[in-house]
Amino acid sequence: MRALLTGGAGYIGSHVALELLERGHEVVVIDDLSNSSRESLRRVEELSGRKVDLYVADLSDIDATREIFVASNPDAVIHLAGLKAVGESVADPIRYYRTNLGCTFTLVQVMREFRVKKLVFSSSATVYGTIADLPVSESSVVGQGITNPYGQTKAMIEQILQDVAVTDPEMQLTILRYFNPIGAHESGRIGEDPRQVPNNLLPFVSQVAAGVREEVSVFGDGFATPDGTGVRDYVHVVDLARGHVAALEASLGGVRAFNLGTGHGSSVLQVIKAFSRVARRSIPYKVVAPRLGDVAVSYGNVVKAAEELGWVAQRTLEDACRDAWRWQLANPYGYSSQANSFVPERLDPKPDGCGVVPPP
Ligand code: UFG
Repeated sequence: MRALLTGGAGYIGSHVALELLERGHEVVVIDDLSNSSRESLRRVEELSGRKVDLYVADLSDIDATREIFVASNPDAVIHLAGLKAVGESVADPIRYYRTNLGCTFTLVQVMREFRVKKLVFSSSATVYGTIADLPVSESSVVGQGITNPYGQTKAMIEQILQDVAVTDPEMQLTILRYFNPIGAHESGRIGEDPRQVPNNLLPFVSQVAAGVREEVSVFGDGFATPDGTGVRDYVHVVDLARGHVAALEASLGGVRAFNLGTGHGSSVLQVIKAFSRVARRSIPYKVVAPRLGDVAVSYGNVVKAAEELGWVAQRTLEDACRDAWRWQLANPYGYSSQANSFVPERLDPKPDGCGVVPPP
């Protein structure tokens, strides 16, 4: 298949692109590079030995989007583009609603014009809000108790897709509800490259392990969990990417939603400990106040993806930490060119061989 990936140069998109190419599909990317880089796709090309067509454009520009459909003639679309910082969405909700909903309106309209019937949408377990019983399954209530505009945009887009499907029975709309994607490709060549101070736990832990930041702030230890810290379902980004391939290859009618997670949770302290074991260095942390809007526990029932997509997460939390650490060591500045010329001493593997040595 020839798949058009919106937001395909980003953290998840680049891993999806690589997995698609390795399965023999063709990949076209539309990305505005606002939170991603060309370098990720250059490395995807290097790893796969295949070509990726990148169109640098904004999805809100409907004429540009039409031109890209004309030039690329996709069979299916994987829609990953969107703003994704929870805190930023609280501070600037209109921007989040305008961007995330606006991109989707343009995309769906152009798909209809070009009679492209297959769409895989990056949604989030955040659509289950704070009301649903655990583990959340696809039939759990959606859209209740969502604590931020980012999450609202995901739930709204899901609803919009449901409505669109009613108008065209030939459409195949697959909604993938991600739990917490972490890790990097095992080559150490592609991974997560936050532009600012990371919002998410794993990149923060990784930067503390590398000495770039002093300590991890653990957001609360008074939750009703075994060690008091928040529990999440962390899923390796390569597993997650393979979930997209499975969704693309499946023949499903109408709208189908799938949880993509491992089915079990790990606490913040368990994550810090797993990373510390893999990196073989201590990771300082201190407990601070809980972050507004954080739920105590989130993990999903993942049986539906196994049964209908044949997809099961294969990699462990330790695998993800090991791969994230390899990526961090090999790319201390992410994709920026500094990474290729200057590696600070504190990021060097320890001389006693304790550190993880990136592959040649
Ligand atoms: N945490 C810390 N310190 C940090 C960062 C996070 O203790 O510096 C804790 C959080 O309180 C939470 C856990 O680590 O308990 C995971 O936090 P993340 O920010 O990594 O992830 P969230 O579960 O808050 O959010 C993620 C995605 C959202 C998505 C949500 C869906 O970032 O996009 O999962 O459940 F909406």
